[in-house]
Amino acid sequence: MPQSCVEQLILAKPRGFCAGVVMAIGAVEKAARTETKPLTVYHSIVHNHTVVSRLEEGHGVHFVEELDSLEMLPAGSETLVFSAHGVSPQVRQRARELGLSTIDATCPLVTKVHTEAKKYAREGYTILLIGDSARHQEVIGTLGEAPQQTIIVGVLGKTGEGLSDPHTVEVPDPEKLVVLTQTTLSVDDTRRTVDILKARFPALLIPPSEDLCYATKNRQDEIKRIAPKVDAFLVLTSTHSSNGMRLLELAAELCPRTYRLETADDVRALELSGVRSVGISSAASTPDDLVQAVVEYFRVLNPALQVTEQGEWENITFREPKKVGPLGEISK
Ligand code: F3S
Repeated sequence: MPQSCVEQLILAKPRGFCAGVVMAIGAVEKAARTETKPLTVYHSIVHNHTVVSRLEEGHGVHFVEELDSLEMLPAGSETLVFSAHGVSPQVRQRARELGLSTIDATCPLVTKVHTEAKKYAREGYTILLIGDSARHQEVIGTLGEAPQQTIIVGVLGKTGEGLSDPHTVEVPDPEKLVVLTQTTLSVDDTRRTVDILKARFPALLIPPSEDLCYATKNRQDEIKRIAPKVDAFLVLTSTHSSNGMRLLELAAELCPRTYRLETADDVRALELSGVRSVGISSAASTPDDLVQAVVEYFRVLNPALQVTEQGEWENITFREPKKVGPLGEISK
C-alpha cells in the first residue's frame, strides 16, 4: 500500500469548526428538535456537504436557495433559518412579507461587516468590498446593505464576473472611500489588495478593526507553521467553503504535495508513495470526526503511527440566536 510508509501525522490546532459554525449548526439542530412544522434553512447553513446532508437526513431540515414565494418552501413551513454567511435586507424583507418566523444564524463577525457597510453608506462613502467571488453568499448579503454604493473588488489573484480589479477599479469620489472585506479571505492576499488600493487612493479609509475573522487567521497561521515541514498536507474542505479553499491554496504554496479531501474516504485514493510525514487541517465548517477518520485510516495501515497536534485551540463562543416572529416578536 502506498500510504503504509506514513509514520507521523501533525494535526493543526485550531482546525475545523469555528464559533460561528458551532452556533449556526446548534441553532438548526435545536430548532429541528422543537419545531412542529417543517424547518427550512435559507442557503447551506455552513459550506460543508457532510454537515448539510446530516441535517437533511438526520433532522429532516430543508434547504432552499430562493425565497420568491411560499411555494418555494416545503409545504407548511413557518420558520426560516438564515445561514451563518448572512443575508441581505431584501431577503429579510421577503421573509417578513411571507409571514415567516426567522432564526438568524448569521455569524456575529459577518454582522459586524454589515453594520460597517450600513454606517459608511449612511455617511456617503463608496464601499470597496474585497471578496473572492461576487456569487459568495456572504458577499451578496453585505452588498445588499448598500448596493448603490458598493463595488466588489476581487482579492488579489481572483477574477470573475462582478469582481473589479484592484489595479483598475474606478470610483466616483476617491476622497470618500472605505474598504471592507469578506471575513474568510487569505490574510496575505487581502493585505496586498488593500496596499494596492491604498497606493491608488491615498484617502482610502480602513476601519479600525479588520474584517477578516479570527478563525480564518488562526487556521492560516497554523498551516504556515506546519506545511513547510511535512512531506504532504491534507485539507478537509468542501469546494464552496471560502475559508477552506484559502487553507488549501496556502498549504499548496508551502507543501507541493497538498490534497483536498471532501470526506475521509477520499484519502484512500491518494498516491502517497515516499511520504513519511503528513500535516492535516480542515475548514471552519468541516466536522472533526472526518479528520479523526483519516487519522484512523493511517493508524490501521501503521499501528506505530505517531500523531501529534500543534498549536492552540480557540476559546470563543457565540450566543445562540432567538426566534423572531413575523411581527418582530422574540421567542423566549
Ligand atoms: Fe464567523 Fe469566521 Fe466562522 S466569519 S462563521 S468565525 S469562519
